[in-house]
Amino acid sequence: MNLCAWRTSKLVMTMALALVATTACNSKRNSSGGGGSDPTPGSGTGAGPAATGPILIGHFASMSGAEATFGQSTDNGVRLAMEERNAAIDAGKLKGRKIEVKTLDDQGKTQEAGTAVNRLINEDHVVAILGEVASGLSLAGGAVAQHYSVPMISPSSTNPQVTQVGDMIFRVCFLDEFQGKVMAKFAKDELKATKVAILFDQSQPYSQGLADFFEKPFTEAGGTIVTRQAYNSSNPDVSAQLSSVKEAAPDLVVLPGYYTQAANIARQARKLDITVPFLGGDGWDSSKLEEIGGDAVQGSYYSNHYSPEEQSPVVQEFVKKYQAKYNQLPDGLAALGYDAANLLFQAIDKSPSLSGKDLAATIAASKDFVGVTGAITIDPNRDASKSAVVVQVDHGKRTPIKRYPADLK
Ligand code: PHE
Repeated sequence: MNLCAWRTSKLVMTMALALVATTACNSKRNSSGGGGSDPTPGSGTGAGPAATGPILIGHFASMSGAEATFGQSTDNGVRLAMEERNAAIDAGKLKGRKIEVKTLDDQGKTQEAGTAVNRLINEDHVVAILGEVASGLSLAGGAVAQHYSVPMISPSSTNPQVTQVGDMIFRVCFLDEFQGKVMAKFAKDELKATKVAILFDQSQPYSQGLADFFEKPFTEAGGTIVTRQAYNSSNPDVSAQLSSVKEAAPDLVVLPGYYTQAANIARQARKLDITVPFLGGDGWDSSKLEEIGGDAVQGSYYSNHYSPEEQSPVVQEFVKKYQAKYNQLPDGLAALGYDAANLLFQAIDKSPSLSGKDLAATIAASKDFVGVTGAITIDPNRDASKSAVVVQVDHGKRTPIKRYPADLK
């Protein structure tokens, strides 16, 4: 990670912690627990979760904003898992308490992510948190969850720093160091690229990190980065950066950003007669990609956690159930949301109590969990090691091109 990326995530963390400090003072969380008004970190959730009735879980997600499909798809996956669990209890097939999920919209904004997690913990007294998708938002929300010792599982945040926030923060997806390596290998060996231009979003720790994690293995393998251009997602005009890209005459353009920006950039690039292929990361995974990017994104590649086209029975059964309920194909976010929720439910059932400490220890011990996105074992860094698949965008379809094992060298 370069210095600049490090500074960005430091800033995100500082903002989130400032939020903890200001909102903690106003919090009513101990009012029924007999404690003082100043909450102690690590003391659980104040008044605490209810001991009977449904177990409440919080989900913070971008249900609106520029990354709205991230939150919506994840929430669909989480709710499908919840309904299946509760139906199994009704049918007498499963023992335990039902689960209720409360979702708060963070609009894809850092400040809102911290506020949402704070509310879920201090007003709703959730026992655990699911979220976020975007790494920057998981860093912000994670700082709050860690402060109150409430376990949090990110379904899909891939930046390494997310779980380094503390021992309450987990993820069920691969990391960007691996994803960058996958993209570099694909660029070099499959696309035969030697001269690459990178355009990354400097306002997102994910995008900045993935740009670095692509660059290192690609140059080590003999490739050249002919230009590296930064943009900021608040400014959609990237004509200056694209002029530099054109001048550098790359044979591949790597766009490690989120779908709205990536699709916009692809459109602008094609208008400037930049005709070489585009390669993205998991941040491209949205049905909106083609709605926004049109022809400009057709034929492009991106690395991802899963493809609904894969023929394994676990994937196909999930696709069938999801389609029956939502009348659309599940993207990677939906699959990861479903897996994260199921892994959490399993931990809730196994945990000796619902205290943050016990629940975190039980999540940490998860091993060989059979997920739609592959087997999940939580490692000592609270991360998961998974394979990745590079897909090609093809008129609504995501054709799997090549799968890369978790232990890729
Ligand atoms: N990995 C992205 C991040 O960390 C989020 C993402 C995951 C987006 C999967 C799309 C699909 O910010």
